[in-house]
Amino acid sequence: MEPWSPNVIVAATDGSDQSLRAANAAAALARTNDAQLFIVTVVRPPEGWWGIVGAPPPAESLGNALADAQRVVLEKTVQAVDLAGVRYETIEEVGDPANQLAAFAESRNADLLVIGQRGAGLVERIMVGSVADRLLHIAKTPVLVVP
Ligand SMILES: Nc1ncnc2c1ncn2[C@@H]1O[C@H](COP(=O)(O)OP(=O)(O)OP(=O)(O)O)[C@@H](O)[C@H]1O
Ligand SMILES: [Mg+2]
Repeated sequence: MEPWSPNVIVAATDGSDQSLRAANAAAALARTNDAQLFIVTVVRPPEGWWGIVGAPPPAESLGNALADAQRVVLEKTVQAVDLAGVRYETIEEVGDPANQLAAFAESRNADLLVIGQRGAGLVERIMVGSVADRLLHIAKTPVLVVP
């Protein structure tokens, strides 16, 4: 077997402290491996925005409010993380966060998907967030979970 080495790394951010720590780890791994880093946030549209066939609406139809909120998340992440010497790109996706993150990682042939154990959700009793939990079930990419 070929030795595993990450050439493409995806960091999932929702702006939470955990996701910033995840992105920080992802950036360090990208630097030491000279890997491409994608910093991805997913806009989850409110229920009413979803089309009748259950497909997410196109990003343009979301209006500015949601998309702007996610741009703030990406900017916050880029500010918080040391990206010196890292080839990175910020990406905004629309839809269900876990599904979109798994699909994006697959589409870019990512070698590693780095996520926080929890995120911006407010339910304190949950030990592992629902997006993290679901990703562990559906991801076809190795996942690194940062507490
Ligand atoms: N919308 C999103 N876009 C990108 N990454 C996300 C998004 N939501 C969550 N993540 C990633 O998943 C990690 C875990 O977040 P998760 O949403 O599972 O926990 P939570 O917010 O505490 O719980 P819940 O959302 O179930 O209330 C985050 O640290 C982040 O890396
Ligand atoms: Mg969440």
